[in-house]
Amino acid sequence: MSYPVTRLRRLRKSASIRNMVRETEVNRDDLIMPYFVCPGENVSNPIKSMPGNFQLSIDLLVKEVQDLVETTGVDKILLFGIPAEKDETGHVACHHDAIVPKAIRALKAALPNILIVADVCNCEYTTHGHCGTIIDGDVDNDSTLHTLAAQSVTLAKSGADIIAPSDMMDGRIGAIRAALDENGFQNTPIMAYSAKYASGFYGPFRDAAESAPKFGDRSTYQMDPANSDEALREVEQDIIEGADMVMVKPALSYMDVIQRVKTTFNMPLVAYNVSGEFSMVKAAAANGWIDEERLIKEILTSLKRAGADVIITYHAKEFVLSELKKGNRV
Ligand code: PBG
Repeated sequence: MSYPVTRLRRLRKSASIRNMVRETEVNRDDLIMPYFVCPGENVSNPIKSMPGNFQLSIDLLVKEVQDLVETTGVDKILLFGIPAEKDETGHVACHHDAIVPKAIRALKAALPNILIVADVCNCEYTTHGHCGTIIDGDVDNDSTLHTLAAQSVTLAKSGADIIAPSDMMDGRIGAIRAALDENGFQNTPIMAYSAKYASGFYGPFRDAAESAPKFGDRSTYQMDPANSDEALREVEQDIIEGADMVMVKPALSYMDVIQRVKTTFNMPLVAYNVSGEFSMVKAAAANGWIDEERLIKEILTSLKRAGADVIITYHAKEFVLSELKKGNRV
């Protein structure tokens, strides 16, 4: 009888030995928590398809972010706006008093040290729900660059720390970089949604942000889920145009893309653990089919293992709370 010389189980024998050889850990500094801000006062509309998430008016958003910072130490948020009124091009988002710029100013007044990432896109602000200006039945690339650049400058003026364009127009990073620089925001970083796929996993978000396209879909501008060489070209282009960080979105079905992007470019890489991925966990947990806390930790750890440096996730607050409750370092 021969016995194995190599026994990988030796390093799994106790918690302390497993802790010693663990390769990946999720830290609260890796996480960005998204929020949806809406007009009004004292408004808190639960988002049915995303249990635990709400459309919040600015006053309640400020309270919620205060609570986030105090209870978890997570100090990075991503903002989406639900405007009072929409228009044809998304220009409503470019005004000083548009919903997200207003929210940023209120948040910064109350919590000067938080980091605010501002999503830049038109789909929440257009009557038709597409990410840009429609000409001849499709989103026109170059005229959309103007609204994106104008929206970015307004957000930066209001105090956004990072500008995060999610529209997938060609040339937007260059256009936004130039506009930011011309307006004195040379030091505002751009987090580019570089490899953003035309995905079914955004379903719940479109309820939350009231941004579903009224006709057609986004496949003339977002990427085909079948492609990964193309993702590298998207990322490369954004880096050439001045992106400081790049993103892969969604996350879980695209871990191969996360890994390819990380090993190819060595750039700070963000993974967006999107609404549908969040809601699947919630739905299974509500049915008692999975251990929710365990699954959330496994998902976030796997994304880091795949190569993500930063994770945008609706689980951020509950994850850190559950780790703290268990006495884990996070
Ligand atoms: C805006 C935008 C979307 C998401 C982030 N920014 C929706 C979309 O492209 O339809 C999705 C986020 C999520 O599903 O959590 N373009």
